[in-house]
Amino acid sequence: MKYQDLYSKSINEPGEFWRNQADNLAWYEKPSTILGKDEYEYPQWFKDGKLNVSYLCIDKHIEDGFGEQNAIIYDSPVTNTKQFITFNQLHQEVARLAGGLHNLGLEKGDTCVIYMPMIPQALYAMLACARLGVIHSVVFGGFAPHELAIRIDDCKPKAIITASNGIEIERIIPYKPFVDEAIVEAMHKPEHVVVYDRSLGVDIPNKPYDVNYTELVSKSEPIAPVAVESNHPLYILYTSGTTGKPKGIIRDSGGYATALKFSMKHVYGVEEGDVYWAASDVGWVVGHSYIVYGPLLNRNTTVLFEGKPIKTPDASTFWRVISEHQVKVMFTAPTAIRAIKKEDPEGHHIKRYDLSCLKYQFLAGERCDVATLSWTEQHLNVPVIDHWWQTESGWPMLANMAGVELMDVKPGSASFPVCGYDIQVLSEEGKEVASDVEGYVAVKLPMPPGCLLNLWGNPERFKSGYLNKFPGYYFSGDGGYKDEDGYVFITGRVDDIINVAGHRLSTAEMEEVVASHPSVAECAVFGVHCDLKGQKPLGLVVLKSGTKISEETITKGIIKDVRREIGAVASLKDVLVVNRLPKTRSGKILRKLLRNISDDLKYNIPSTIDDVNIISEIETVYKKHQIGIHKSEISI
Ligand code: COA
Ligand code: AMP
Repeated sequence: MKYQDLYSKSINEPGEFWRNQADNLAWYEKPSTILGKDEYEYPQWFKDGKLNVSYLCIDKHIEDGFGEQNAIIYDSPVTNTKQFITFNQLHQEVARLAGGLHNLGLEKGDTCVIYMPMIPQALYAMLACARLGVIHSVVFGGFAPHELAIRIDDCKPKAIITASNGIEIERIIPYKPFVDEAIVEAMHKPEHVVVYDRSLGVDIPNKPYDVNYTELVSKSEPIAPVAVESNHPLYILYTSGTTGKPKGIIRDSGGYATALKFSMKHVYGVEEGDVYWAASDVGWVVGHSYIVYGPLLNRNTTVLFEGKPIKTPDASTFWRVISEHQVKVMFTAPTAIRAIKKEDPEGHHIKRYDLSCLKYQFLAGERCDVATLSWTEQHLNVPVIDHWWQTESGWPMLANMAGVELMDVKPGSASFPVCGYDIQVLSEEGKEVASDVEGYVAVKLPMPPGCLLNLWGNPERFKSGYLNKFPGYYFSGDGGYKDEDGYVFITGRVDDIINVAGHRLSTAEMEEVVASHPSVAECAVFGVHCDLKGQKPLGLVVLKSGTKISEETITKGIIKDVRREIGAVASLKDVLVVNRLPKTRSGKILRKLLRNISDDLKYNIPSTIDDVNIISEIETVYKKHQIGIHKSEISI
């Protein structure tokens, strides 16, 4: 069936369409109600169905006779390790760990934080929780103890599963000590911390709550999967919002499994048994959906890569992994390609490998610039597919659905709505805008299965953040437009969220840290263009009068504070001192104007600005620090 037919069916007959997809899963109890609604008219999928996602990812394939197929290929250039883990072995690891967690008292409905590097035990931990109906919340390793503490206090885990350490190229990241620090800071105290010791010579001080992962697994009996309701949360994944407090996206079980299975075949075009690689991290949604659950549900072999596109050891790593493990479909962020392109602009490394196994290269996580797209197409010589989605959706919303019909690519566009997503571009008044007119990108309800169920402990924020702006729609937070052929172009966030190297970060959160520096009177943090990472944060600070400390000491101190409080991933490296910030007459800081000046964009100076002379002051500071080069036309 061609894309347009399949898509129309998904929009016109969603119940029938998704019932058929749900039939591809081995439910314990098949759902009779396909599409229900909650009190806000928000969809609830397969409400009376029962299943277990860990069972579907592992046991089912063994029952079908594929126990000896590789489930995971762990490739770690940072430790020089390669490990091939079959479904039978995965079953042993997961079922025993689940047995151990059960012995520690974890049961269906409890929460468990997972703070781990890219090692197989991270996947075992996720799947063991899913086996018990324990709701996991994976926290990305680049976040500092303070951020971990915020998440611990929000989801109140009974246990934390962690590892002694991670490795960033050559740097040892002390995961377990970070967990200890976070527990000191958090109000909520988990009962157990299960620690996987990587034996990398890191000193791990013993705490009364510590449980040795390896001993726990060796002492425990395997445990059977627990049947859960379709709406039972599989996980909570925190993502940045427009305030300092991250939002806990809740993902259901049945809708998510149905959507992921559908996407593996219809979006990514892989069949059972194929090798699939998403070069991301289990701490992000891409890792949840396309390192762990999607490929394993579809009986694909998933590649778990503990390394970077460059420096581990060089810009050839991606091509080595594709060729060596016969990867059919690969998924990464444009920033990773830009990093490779910078080191190897002529693509010499690519020519050293036989990449004939590769059928499609997918890109997402940030806007894909045309230069990156063309370079990748030219050097890989396969379709390069930009697709758009977010933590909230859990799976692609816009894509060239390679498994259905490969459409022509329009550079700069993530192509068309994926089946189930009625994507519209709306005006401020909530009316659909004409072709080529930019507006707010929204999805007409009902959202298809797999999208967020709610926000953990905060249904009000869920409603106000996503559903209230345009009644009857889910608002994505992105701006964009549709051209006359129906291709959708995402132009970027319309809020204060920024995207740094494919990582979604909140400038409000950084501003909170900057503002708390004793010498800072006021500040603004916003995203500016970066050739490598797409965007990077820039902080402008006004110092308290009478401050005697040097500007350099203050700005260095602020950069350190942000790294300590939020983590290395925040990547705040530029903080500039200014005499004042541009504001409206009512005192609102004009962040968009500050960003547009630095990014060399055409801008209007708002008529509400309190003093127009401030613009030239800001430009002088930018020029002095070589932030952007101002050539824009200015109009008032
Ligand atoms: N644990 C601890 N620290 C981490 C970390 C982790 N898991 N991941 C990143 N960091 C640290 C980095 O070491 C870096 O520290 P530094 O400032 O001391 O150098 C900092 O966080 C910023 O990381 P990042 O923004 O990733 O920059 P980078 O210079 O290390 O690497 C790229 C740049 C482009 C190579 C890298 O960002 C990349 O591979 N991106 C792919 C994007 C991706 O996977 N996105 C997920 C969605 S698809
Ligand atoms: P995250 O929730 O971390 O996955 O980040 C989601 C955000 O990243 C989206 O709201 C977009 O702003 C941006 N994004 C992701 N993929 C794309 C893409 N293909 N094109 C443009 N922006 C993207």
